[in-house]
Amino acid sequence: MSDIAVMGATGHTGSVIARNLLALGHRVRALGRSAERLDALRQQGAQVHVGDAADPAYLTRAFEGADAVYAMMPFDPTAPGFVELQRTQGQAIVAALQAARVPHVVALSSLGAEQPAGTGVLVSLHEQEQRLATLQHSHVLRLRPAMFYEGLFNLLPGVKYGGSLADAFAPDLPIPMIATRDIADAATAALDQRGWTGHSVRELLGPGDLSHEQLATFVGGVIGQPALAYQQLPYDAAAQGMAQAGIAPDLAYLLAEMARALNEGRVRSVEGRNARNTTATPLQSLAPAIKAAYDALP
Ligand SMILES: NC(=O)c1ccc[n+]([C@@H]2O[C@H](COP(=O)([O-])OP(=O)(O)OC[C@H]3O[C@@H](n4cnc5c(N)ncnc54)[C@H](OP(=O)(O)O)[C@@H]3O)[C@@H](O)[C@H]2O)c1
Repeated sequence: MSDIAVMGATGHTGSVIARNLLALGHRVRALGRSAERLDALRQQGAQVHVGDAADPAYLTRAFEGADAVYAMMPFDPTAPGFVELQRTQGQAIVAALQAARVPHVVALSSLGAEQPAGTGVLVSLHEQEQRLATLQHSHVLRLRPAMFYEGLFNLLPGVKYGGSLADAFAPDLPIPMIATRDIADAATAALDQRGWTGHSVRELLGPGDLSHEQLATFVGGVIGQPALAYQQLPYDAAAQGMAQAGIAPDLAYLLAEMARALNEGRVRSVEGRNARNTTATPLQSLAPAIKAAYDALP
């Protein structure tokens, strides 16, 4: 049995990782900002550590004595000042990992994080990978997943009220996409087995590449609108739409810039698809949740 700290334990990946590790019999420290949101994990046996990821003293206390840490950059779409906030949080996370001398770290990054500039939100993950590379006492595995299926939920209001699946990505561009549960399973295995040394990188590409036209066909089929079309928005319009939907305007701009980087071929797999980076869960697994979320929209 090991002692493992999980950041973002209420989020897509962290919540599954925490549950997986508890099921494997590990002691789990679940990190997040809200004791209430973490309560289900506490009831399942996790030790809850409430605090803000920009606070290195809190993180150091939460990491001290842990055998391994799942380190992720918190993502709060409503928080303004994304770049500065991610920098502050990233510095705090690495300072705490260093101070606590955590032996093994599994860090969530992204495809495209090898690029230093021009990739919007991904530049913050590039910077974080650079900081993680300075850790002297840790074996660090950086996971670089593809785009999350779960991002589709953000496009459902546009489907309901605008009549199309709309985003800034090119309609026919094949993009590797993955279920967050596959990332969580890969991270769980790494945290459980800790079978790597030094600093390494691993891409996670999902079961296949999907274009946004194919995503529209999928969503249309799920909600009973088989003719649902994909509409590619200009980058400015996409950013404005995201801001109107409640995403912080500076973050909305960076998300549109990331879409441009994908469209222009600057964000893609470096390894190329292979058996090791191909994961199992198909997009179809999301169908019931997509249907429920669409039906629940007022
Ligand atoms: N979406 C994609 O396609 C994609 C692709 C590749 C990589 N990524 C990366 O994946 C990460 C997001 O992972 P995820 O989807 O598992 O997380 P998520 O579901 O977005 O959840 C974010 C987590 O961060 C916590 N959090 C937010 N602000 C915080 C703060 N100030 N201090 C401490 N905790 C905070 C939240 O907890 P509480 O709100 O409960 O405090 C929550 O547990 C991001 O770094 C993103 O860049 C995303």
